[in-house]
Amino acid sequence: MFNSENLSVNEQNHLTIGNHDTVELAKEFGTPLYVLDEDLMRKNCRSYKEALDKYYGGNGLILFASKALCTMHTAKVTEEEGLGADVVSGGELYTLHKADFPMEKVFFHGNNKTYDEIELAIKLGVGHIVVDNRYELDLVNEIAKSYGIIQKILFRIKPGIDAHTHDFIKTGQIDSKFGVALENGEAIQIHQYALTLPNIQIDGVHCHIGSQIFDVEPFCEAANVMLNFISDLYDSLSLKIKILNLGGGFGIKYSSEDDPLPVSVYIEKVAEAVKAFALEKGIKPPFLVFEPGRSIAASAGITLYTVGCVKEIENVRTYVSVDGGMSDNPRYILYGAKYSAVVANNASAEPIAPITIAGKCCESGDLIQENIMMPEVKVGDTLAVLATGAYNYSMASNYNRIPRPPIVAVRGDEKKVIVKRESYEDIIRNDII
Ligand code: LLP
Repeated sequence: MFNSENLSVNEQNHLTIGNHDTVELAKEFGTPLYVLDEDLMRKNCRSYKEALDKYYGGNGLILFASKALCTMHTAKVTEEEGLGADVVSGGELYTLHKADFPMEKVFFHGNNKTYDEIELAIKLGVGHIVVDNRYELDLVNEIAKSYGIIQKILFRIKPGIDAHTHDFIKTGQIDSKFGVALENGEAIQIHQYALTLPNIQIDGVHCHIGSQIFDVEPFCEAANVMLNFISDLYDSLSLKIKILNLGGGFGIKYSSEDDPLPVSVYIEKVAEAVKAFALEKGIKPPFLVFEPGRSIAASAGITLYTVGCVKEIENVRTYVSVDGGMSDNPRYILYGAKYSAVVANNASAEPIAPITIAGKCCESGDLIQENIMMPEVKVGDTLAVLATGAYNYSMASNYNRIPRPPIVAVRGDEKKVIVKRESYEDIIRNDII
């Protein structure tokens, strides 16, 4: 009935997540509320790991892309499931460090890492820095030298594959702000230069072709391009590349229109492609890294709101306003992202009319979804928006000085606040009059 296997309806006709009644959760913790099904998040981690074991002999590592959901608790969860992590900022790195995440399993990304961030990464002993450009390469070398270490790196490569949902074309990516290009020789040159730097050790190459991608072909194609490049690096510079990091990007089901393949199929197909291309080029299959974010966290999360005003504009539309909005979920206003919603206290009701779910921010575009078919929605109802586990909390803001909602993690019969609700005091804590 719902997009995600962990959602159901109980005898009270309430939406449940795992073993928990969402209406009760809303009562106990207040709304807006992010609920994270930790069991499902763990299961998603395991699906990746098991697939990599099965189809690639475990010769690799799954990293959770912290940008999708970064908290100390989720860092702990992914660590316990045996994953590494991808971070893109000092803040994400610090969060993981404070959660005692093993730093050797961290890959540090970003197109403009600052001196301080690189220094923090080196001080904390981050396993790999994914170097974006020559300026950064020099900085990493310099800072590594001052700490008397040799820093292991990968280079971020633009594989020239522009992947979109249901569509991909093989051009143009040279204008991406991330990484170095293959077409113009930039990628080879930066490797050649890095070989002259005493405090740099090149371990691998990385690419990331996009996000919410359903087709497996662009990933296989990226793998092909990258293995070609690995082979070129050996031929031209005698450089042996150990690690191939193919990034994240596997799509998930937000609405009935989405039809993602199971994770195991993605991994199987890409792993098979990597093995076949490696064989063809006569190189050893590299240590294979994937960095899923959305496909681990999104389906595990929902957001609960309380419905306030319902405004019917005859022959135009009906606005159902909730006590959150773009401040906790900016994905509709940013990307026109699709979501499914459920009246949590009347969960099996049939849709009868289109409604627009609006937030409470002072901005007309502050919508969660427009004209989606829903059952009757009344003041005081609990509205659940599904699959909000990724890129919601992590992209939330205090726009209009709205405090960010808490996250409650449920696991079996247990429930635990893993991020507290912000208070008005939190909102002003850095203000100085
Ligand atoms: N690795 C790298 C280098 C990335 O840039 C990303 C996402 C990932 C891994 C994880 O991709 P995923 O498996 O989550 O698709 N805010 C946007 C998504 C931006 C993704 C940016 N990079 C959204 O809400 O849809």
